[in-house]
Amino acid sequence: MKALRAFAPASIGNVSLGFDVLGAALAPVDGTRLGDEVEIKAAEHFSLDVLGPFAHKLPGDADSNIVTKCYHYFCEQMEKAGKPTSPVALTLHKNLPIGSGLGSSASSIVAAFAALNAYFGNPYDEDTLLFMMGELEGQISGSVHYDNVAPCYLGGMTLMTGAAAPLTLSLPLNKDWYYAICYSGISVSTSAARDILPKQVDMATALTFGRQLGVFVHALHAGDFSLAASVMKDVIAEPYRKSLLPGFDDARVYSEQAGALAFGISGSGPTVFAVCPTKEQADDVAEYLTKHYIQNEDGFSHVCQIPTQGTLVTDVNVTDI
Ligand code: HSE
Repeated sequence: MKALRAFAPASIGNVSLGFDVLGAALAPVDGTRLGDEVEIKAAEHFSLDVLGPFAHKLPGDADSNIVTKCYHYFCEQMEKAGKPTSPVALTLHKNLPIGSGLGSSASSIVAAFAALNAYFGNPYDEDTLLFMMGELEGQISGSVHYDNVAPCYLGGMTLMTGAAAPLTLSLPLNKDWYYAICYSGISVSTSAARDILPKQVDMATALTFGRQLGVFVHALHAGDFSLAASVMKDVIAEPYRKSLLPGFDDARVYSEQAGALAFGISGSGPTVFAVCPTKEQADDVAEYLTKHYIQNEDGFSHVCQIPTQGTLVTDVNVTDI
């Protein structure tokens, strides 16, 4: 019987200017595989094993794990559609820290659904799978948004349409930009980071948000990347969330002095990112962030680019898992 492995990359939600509607996948340029993996193979009964550097931060019982919930949800949808399923053994490699702002829950969810869909013969198309991924992500973060699951699944930088199909659009990428990212090591709950936001925004903020997003999409399509960078400002969440992030203002000042074109919070934090025009500048910013933004031994920095490849499903030798 076949066995498969799905790797789902880390991602930046919001990318500063697109709260809940814009996201980007991340790939460290040194080849580090920054993302969760789910392996799947046939079994007599369903089981989930959790391994990896952040496994110990998850609840101990498999029933509470989001990957188990993905399996049950997937099987329910298959049953409703009259399609057969069978028990499987899943292994989650929890490589991303929880509450990091790197789309950690999305990465587990996307890897799980991608593995399940491939294992059962690809019964669901891209938009249907993304819808399922968004539903499960909503159970964790308190609201359905696709800004992590979409780029994690599809790669690239994705803009959510608000429609069922296509659920997301891929934006052009600047292949010369490098993203210095730094996870500080502390955990920020997405639902808590959403609770501190005002429930409404004023007219001036709404106009700035809409203008920036429009200009950004135009600028990417026009290849005017300095114009695109000039509107990468978060007017919705950062003013409230940065109080949760020790060292945030100093990190921005350093990054901008070092030549970063934009600086912001990845998702709901505490990870921050700096968009740099050269790898040397990104290395410099990453070094600063490692020294000054990291709070404990769980923290790390990487210099990344946005990969066009999203989730990757590969065959594995069953004796390897
Ligand atoms: N758009 C989400 C937020 C990303 O900022 O709350 C985190 O899941």
